[in-house]
Amino acid sequence: MSLIRIQGARELHGTVQVGGSKNAALAILSGVVLATEPVVLRKVPNVRDVQIKTKLLEDLGARVHREGDTLTIDCSDLKRRDPDPELVRAIRTSFYLLGPLMARLGSAKLPQPGGCKIGARPVDFHVRGLKLLGAEIEYSAGYYSARADRLKAGEIYLDFPSAGATQHLMASAVLADGQTVIKNAAMEPEVVALADFLNRMGARVEGAGTSTITVTGVTSLKGCEFSIPSDRLQAGTLLLAGVATCGDVTVEGILPEYQGALLSKLKEAGAHVDVGHDWIRARGNPFLQAVSIKTMPYPGFSTDLQQPMAAVLTCAHGVSTVEETIYESRIGHVDELNRMGAKIRLEGRTCVITGVDHLQGTVVEASDLRAGAALVIAGLSARGETIVKNVQHIDRGYENFEETLRQLGASIERIPSDELETAQWSD
Ligand code: EPU
Repeated sequence: MSLIRIQGARELHGTVQVGGSKNAALAILSGVVLATEPVVLRKVPNVRDVQIKTKLLEDLGARVHREGDTLTIDCSDLKRRDPDPELVRAIRTSFYLLGPLMARLGSAKLPQPGGCKIGARPVDFHVRGLKLLGAEIEYSAGYYSARADRLKAGEIYLDFPSAGATQHLMASAVLADGQTVIKNAAMEPEVVALADFLNRMGARVEGAGTSTITVTGVTSLKGCEFSIPSDRLQAGTLLLAGVATCGDVTVEGILPEYQGALLSKLKEAGAHVDVGHDWIRARGNPFLQAVSIKTMPYPGFSTDLQQPMAAVLTCAHGVSTVEETIYESRIGHVDELNRMGAKIRLEGRTCVITGVDHLQGTVVEASDLRAGAALVIAGLSARGETIVKNVQHIDRGYENFEETLRQLGASIERIPSDELETAQWSD
């Protein structure tokens, strides 16, 4: 077990390249089982959730080879076998394998998936959608067993534009008989990335990025090469770290149009934002103003950036509100930020944040991935030393996080947890 130690109150300056998207990679790593030929994926982040997903694929008979950020995956010899339940339970996207495995092998059995503890996270849309595609699904003793000789096309309406259900059902329909329509589909960039990947393999997916997706079934897919698009959440996190420290950070190699909601709110708060063809520069301002935020499905303000944004708003002038509408308990950052001197009051799912002059470093604990990112941002802006515990949550989704922040001038390092007792505190 290790900890992150930060000496705060240093402005971050500089330019960094953004790595491949964790959430796009995880969705694509379900789609790979549809192909009988090897697939080469570039810019695959080497984060813990991706490592778990590739281990899961190996359990199912895939041959996986990593060289740098390139993964070669050969699913030609996939086996109808139960993967290690602990791996399945460790991540949410393990469940997105159910439909594609069924499409390839005729049946599949997986336990209820896991993921960050930020709300109930049911899989009812996934199960209902697969049934509409002709699957027989039984749930018993914590396991879903699914069977279909060949999935058939269906018309699916999602009660909520779930990113995961859209990705899962879209991939499941690729080898189905006929034309499937998914209505009220999620429009997240990671859905578009998966559709692009599936089409590269020979699928016929249209409309990804809009609320209606059409999938015309094909009988087989071929191997392909595909580069994972950049991680908009990593980009957003780094920009927020720059703004929180009153610094000047540029993220490169990204699609700025995917950051619309974040950039609007940063500008509204008084940060200076410049945008180029594939880069964004954000500069902080000691007189940041309070803003109101409400998380929404894309293109609304991302739930994944609400905790990092809340960390920035702790020191904005006035009273900010951050309302979480996607998950019922994505609030693990609140008590910890308050331990650092923030003034955050919870009203239902809304954080009411009264800006303070500065945060003060202390020992805090990450409860989930984005709460961890929020605490690191808070630590970078706070006076004195911050120790973040439970950094395994951060490792789920940020590759080389400390190195990247160090490149920007942060004083941040990973230390063994037994050094906590000897760590020195400033008052
Ligand atoms: N939902 C249901 N039933 C379902 C599926 C979803 O009620 O069958 C609900 C969820 O409980 C939630 C809402 O729908 O309240 C949205 O969930 P969604 O399915 O969109 O989320 P997800 O696919 O499980 C992905 C990302 C999350 C991100 C959300 C929203 C991955 C691996 N995870 O989760 O990312 O917050 O979309 O954009 O792609 C993160 O990266 O930190 C993270 C949690």
